[in-house]
Amino acid sequence: MSETGKNKGSREAIGNYEVSRDGLKTRREVLMMGAVAAAGLGVAGMAAQAAPAVAQASKELYTARDFSGLVAKKMEGLSASQIEQHLKLYKGYVGKSNEIAAKLKEVDITSANATYSPLRELLMEQSFAVNGVIYHELYFGNLGGAGTEPTGALKSSLEERFGSVGKFMDFLKASGKSMRGWVVVGYNLRGGFIDTFGLDTHNIWSPAGFVPLLVLDVYEHAYMVDYGIDRAKYLDAFAGNIDWKVVAKRLSAVSKYPSGLDLTV
Ligand SMILES: [Fe+2]
Repeated sequence: MSETGKNKGSREAIGNYEVSRDGLKTRREVLMMGAVAAAGLGVAGMAAQAAPAVAQASKELYTARDFSGLVAKKMEGLSASQIEQHLKLYKGYVGKSNEIAAKLKEVDITSANATYSPLRELLMEQSFAVNGVIYHELYFGNLGGAGTEPTGALKSSLEERFGSVGKFMDFLKASGKSMRGWVVVGYNLRGGFIDTFGLDTHNIWSPAGFVPLLVLDVYEHAYMVDYGIDRAKYLDAFAGNIDWKVVAKRLSAVSKYPSGLDLTV
């Protein structure tokens, strides 16, 4: 995916959002701020006028999470510039997820049609945008753990499924070379075991009944800044920065289902 925004001085537009030094603002908020300034209202007036915009923002379903700590960690092999560009892309997915959610509230359902209809288009792109948010949050969340190792139940689960942690890592990297979007290692609720899925885009082949534990982004945007088209070097860098404590914590969340969970009941 390429960036959708354009630089505007200290601000950058991503979809219906603007990223500035003050954080992420909707276009509506930015326009309201401009209108307030143009009207010559004082600080007190601005506070009174800004209230509806804040209330509007609070109704949004998705809020970008703060992963700026990853930049501060100065990970070996994943530069600050690479992570910052990637985070901008992630915030774009958050904005589009909110935009689609808002449009689904007012879309004309009487024209529903499986060849083309506004509802169909919104539903199709909703899964792309929302999965783009969720998979990126899982990806950034399992980065930044240089020096950690799989231990305990996580280590034994990987050994049981793949033979050894080393063989799992070989499989993970090979899977990363095989896919165009994502590799997702998770807990298969259908049978209660660790499993791996590959996705070419956020919403194609995304598994059901599956709890993601470790997410690897192999879109070119995840490594082009640092490695050009050399994905193998990126996969080595990713492997060295996995936060295994986070992965173990995610596994512990499903530990009460040692035999899986029958989602059909
Ligand atoms: Fe990405």
